[in-house]
Amino acid sequence: MKKILVTGGLGFIGSHTVVELQNEGFDVLIIDNLSNSTIDVLDKITSITTQKPKYFNIDLKSKSAVQHFFKENKVDGVIHFAASKAVGESVEKPLEYYENNICSLIYLLQEMRTNKVVNFIFSSSCTVYGQADELPITENAPIKPAESPYGNTKQIGEEIIKDTSKISDIKAIALRYFNPIGAHESAKIGELPIGVPQNLIPFVTQTAAGIRKELAVFGSDYNTPDGTAIRDYIHVVDLAKAHIVALRRLLENNNKSFFEVFNIGTGKGNSVLEVIQSFEKVTGKKLNYKIVNRREGDITAAYADTTIANNELGWKAKSTLDEALLSAWKWQKTLK
Ligand code: UD1
Repeated sequence: MKKILVTGGLGFIGSHTVVELQNEGFDVLIIDNLSNSTIDVLDKITSITTQKPKYFNIDLKSKSAVQHFFKENKVDGVIHFAASKAVGESVEKPLEYYENNICSLIYLLQEMRTNKVVNFIFSSSCTVYGQADELPITENAPIKPAESPYGNTKQIGEEIIKDTSKISDIKAIALRYFNPIGAHESAKIGELPIGVPQNLIPFVTQTAAGIRKELAVFGSDYNTPDGTAIRDYIHVVDLAKAHIVALRRLLENNNKSFFEVFNIGTGKGNSVLEVIQSFEKVTGKKLNYKIVNRREGDITAAYADTTIANNELGWKAKSTLDEALLSAWKWQKTLK
């Protein structure tokens, strides 16, 4: 049984990936410092899969703690989710973001080298493309200057991994996620935003649940069919499954180079108004919303060209926007 370390394994995407890994017969070890997650997620994962993953409350910014972990635990691969991800906060606290997202990555890679762990999957983001010149966005689209320290940590992270893969035995895959949404069908795990949600779907579900008075739609003057911005919303379970196929690619030595990147999205773009309509349709709930000004730093449209991921990984997103939104709503209802 292959042992896989999942950092940030109690977070939104991490927890769903742990479930899929266990379902596929992997032995999972989780490192999570609970900075944006709660320990009860461990029990929720266990109740879904009936296996308790080994859990370590380790802060990856502590080099000695990372060294100690790798000395004590032999693993076959690492899936690295643990990172701070709030765009606005990263502008306020750039040094914290660089320290957290970059130092932990470096320490992990160093200990992987020392301990001869060669398989590495990295959480990257479509944010590296900025507003791409052409849609859909292929992996070959140019990387644009980052809009925020958060975005920069994803760009720098990819560079660090690429450089490391050139001089070591480490094989790495960076998955560039588009917009992950939804929750596990059991409604036992999902997205848990702390405070006022910054992302669209948690704001939508909290508004429908009466926790927020009104959803603000950021801008209706974009150059899109209905004037609102377009994104590629991917069900988190589809996204989690992409990690399993990427991991197998590395474990089975099917990778074509030591550093590969794949777009992980549905390939379909939806506007904010389409999201609202879809949510109202599948839940039968009317959403209170109003159009306000654009949010600073937002782009007009982003959706993935998933041809390379489909062909190389043999992976394709299955869930529709309707299904993803319904799962997000079922999850929201458990939070009240
Ligand atoms: C954001 C980040 C991105 C990050 C991703 C992680 C920015 C600029 N980008 O993506 O780097 O990788 O989250 O999940 O923050 N919207 C509203 N009202 C709201 C919230 C959002 O209209 O209350 C709109 C936004 O303007 C956007 C769409 O909904 O058009 C999606 O927004 P969001 O969920 O925040 O994701 P991104 O901005 O695409």
